[in-house]
Amino acid sequence: MLRNLVSLSLFTATASASYAFYVGKNLTKDGSVMVGGTGEEVSSHWLQLFPAKDHAANATVSVGVTEDAEIPGEIIEIPQVNHTFRYLSMEYSDFLGFPAPLTNGGLNEKGVAVRDVWASNRDDLVAMTPTPQRGVQYSDLARLVMERASTAREGVELIGRLVEEYSEATYGGNTHLIADKDEGWVVWEMAGGQKLWAAERLGKNDIRVLYPGYIQEFPLNFTDHPDYMGSPNIVSFAVDQGWWDPDGSKPFNIFEVYGYTGDGRSAREGGFKYMSQKQLEDATRAMVPVTEENMMERVRDPRIADDQAGYGQVVSLHEGTPSSLLRIWIAPTGSLAAPFVPWWLGVQKVIPEFGLHRYLYDRASGTFLNTDYQLQEASVFAGRIFKRLLYYMCSAPETLHPVVTQMLEGFEKESAKDIQWVEAAASELLSKGEDDAAHSLLTYYSNSRAEKALALGQTTAAALDGFIKLSGNWKGPEGSDINSPSGKETVNCLIGHNPDKWEPKTRSRSEL
Ligand SMILES: *[C@@H]1O[C@H](CO)[C@@H](O)[C@H](O)[C@H]1NC(C)=O
Ligand SMILES: *[C@@H]1O[C@H](CO)[C@@H](O)[C@H](O)[C@H]1NC(C)=O
Ligand SMILES: *[C@@H]1O[C@H](CO)[C@@H](O)[C@H](O)[C@H]1NC(C)=O
Ligand SMILES: *[C@@H]1O[C@H](CO)[C@@H](O)[C@H](O)[C@H]1NC(C)=O
Repeated sequence: MLRNLVSLSLFTATASASYAFYVGKNLTKDGSVMVGGTGEEVSSHWLQLFPAKDHAANATVSVGVTEDAEIPGEIIEIPQVNHTFRYLSMEYSDFLGFPAPLTNGGLNEKGVAVRDVWASNRDDLVAMTPTPQRGVQYSDLARLVMERASTAREGVELIGRLVEEYSEATYGGNTHLIADKDEGWVVWEMAGGQKLWAAERLGKNDIRVLYPGYIQEFPLNFTDHPDYMGSPNIVSFAVDQGWWDPDGSKPFNIFEVYGYTGDGRSAREGGFKYMSQKQLEDATRAMVPVTEENMMERVRDPRIADDQAGYGQVVSLHEGTPSSLLRIWIAPTGSLAAPFVPWWLGVQKVIPEFGLHRYLYDRASGTFLNTDYQLQEASVFAGRIFKRLLYYMCSAPETLHPVVTQMLEGFEKESAKDIQWVEAAASELLSKGEDDAAHSLLTYYSNSRAEKALALGQTTAAALDGFIKLSGNWKGPEGSDINSPSGKETVNCLIGHNPDKWEPKTRSRSEL
């Protein structure tokens, strides 16, 4: 997958790509650290709540990739810890040779948010990866951080320890963005089986977009530096390979030394689709002080959000939030055509419609349904409904994109108003020790809101079906291949597929 990805300048048809935004707490309106993003995978995506759990002393976790991965590997067992934390995650099912279910992250009960984004390494490093490769892969790392880390820094240290002990099972290089109420970190796990990794702290005045992830200048004395971490060999390995000259004039730059610099790539430009990291960072900085609404607008920007975006997430992390009231906004499929719904860590269950279904699930087209899932599969699937909305909307984006966007934003505005009383009431209950009642309230609100979102999706998709057909805009397929040929453009909402014709909204959302 990585090889396909690298050879494409614009479209990442089958790649595990994804994007993530970080905004430091001095640049947000309410002083929170803010994170947004998506996972770009073909497969279905569903919302899952993982309760905290105790584990037996000898329990283990299976990690790694199988022989089907592009760089074939073997699954290994590593020790489990005696207790894992509660977390919410959008799970997904399919990345060749990476066993389902997978995750790019989410939010845990300690207020640690994780996002996973690809970050290709130089070809000669990738080529060093021994096969079969063994180690901890990107989804394992995201999950282990949510299960085990109480702060972002702890998450980075955990990834460092795991990579140094077990190595990374790789598809060509990967980053994680890990954030808490104080700071963010970018961690780059390098391909090559050399146990190389590097991490950079993002502070209160930083804005960072990973698309793909990057780290630039890196201090040689990083072990004493509060803002950097890395494997002990991160400098010496580059020197040994002749990739960096310690006597030369060039500073030690992680992207230039270890990154993929072909096809005119630089750390912040020459990226993918229509927006570079630099453009996305500039667009975010123009919104300072950034609100959650702003972040939703960035995550759903049609120049990056399209059929490939599996969901949308926005989270703001504050000092002193009780665990139950940690909140993450999630759009059940690409946020271009689906509303963000607020979910709290105190929520106890998720309606079946937002849960696992077979639409685009790994191996679904070659097996019958397990009877255990009969009723689950009988329920409608949010992912499928909002995909219908996306495909209709993006067939006539000039007419439909503004209208649908206005509806989604209207829905989110209502939710944003509601969460004030929901959180005030839940907070009051928590302070009286009535945790169960607080959790019931949060569960009731999130699930009712999810049902309303679903109803909005169904009526809108039905209306657009009518509009497209009755306005003479229906067009049947011309070819016979229902699957997108690898590397070809996928469904998006750019007018005539030309980003220059796409006008960012000039009205502020409060005027809507
Ligand atoms: C916060 O950010 C503003 C720019 O938005 C900057 O002028 C100011 O110095 C920053 N304050 C701190 C304490 O870093
Ligand atoms: C783990 O420990 C429990 C009790 O201590 C034991 O019953 C079980 O067989 C052990 N499992 C493994 C896989 O060793
Ligand atoms: C769990 O592990 C931690 C350290 O790893 C230890 O301090 C604690 O006592 C353990 N708890 C139990 C119940 O085994
Ligand atoms: C790292 O080295 C630079 C100069 O090489 C120095 O300015 C800086 O203070 C050092 N930082 C730490 C944390 O030791």
